[in-house]
Amino acid sequence: MSKNKNYLRHLAIIMDGNGRWAKERGYIRTKGHEKGADVIRDITQYCAEHETIETVTLYAFSTENWKRPKYEVDFLMKLLDKWLKGELETYHKFGARFETVGNIEGFSPKLQETIASIKEQTAHHTNVTQILALNYGSREEIAKAATRLANRKEAITEESLGNELNTPYTDVDLMVRTSGEVRLSNFLLWQLSYTEFFFTETLWPDFTPTELEDIINQYINRNRRFGGV
Ligand code: FPP
Repeated sequence: MSKNKNYLRHLAIIMDGNGRWAKERGYIRTKGHEKGADVIRDITQYCAEHETIETVTLYAFSTENWKRPKYEVDFLMKLLDKWLKGELETYHKFGARFETVGNIEGFSPKLQETIASIKEQTAHHTNVTQILALNYGSREEIAKAATRLANRKEAITEESLGNELNTPYTDVDLMVRTSGEVRLSNFLLWQLSYTEFFFTETLWPDFTPTELEDIINQYINRNRRFGGV
């Protein structure tokens, strides 16, 4: 249980606005994804050095993102593979553990291998766990968890279903979405029940640890009542 109501253990971020960032500069959309991937490193470093953050969950690819043009999907898959391999050094440097949530079975065997290998090589790190939501959809996560419980003829309760999810890493304390969009897009619906939300106009490639710190300071001053008074 958290030490106090505003103790920040789990931060979640919907990283949005890469395409607009690129367009504003006259670049192709994929340039925005490249820059966005660099920002993940800065934010992970911030989280690793933060006193209380244990987990940062980042929405990197949703089950709906397959609808994007093929060249963009292919680019994102290649970028993820290359980026993860390059990130290993960073994970070691910051003491960050890499984890995922979502159906990575939907990715190529090569990418699945890279993901498994980075997870294995960072499993011992304890400063922060970075969870990338990859091919992730929250409704699907909940439906599959309920199906597993039903198949095992186990009771479906808040506790059993919560524990059966692929993200039983604790509820999210703070959720940030960049780029001015104000929606959840099928992200962690169960885990966000009592979360504090912040929406910033900043496009993800322009997001910085300084802005995150400012948001965290506002979060600390919010009055979280969890349904109480
Ligand atoms: C949304 O921008 C961004 C995503 C598709 C998810 C986040 C992806 C990254 C940060 C880059 C790649 C990540 C890794 C881990 C290598 P958008 O394209 O929807 O932007 P738009 O709304 O302005 O079009």
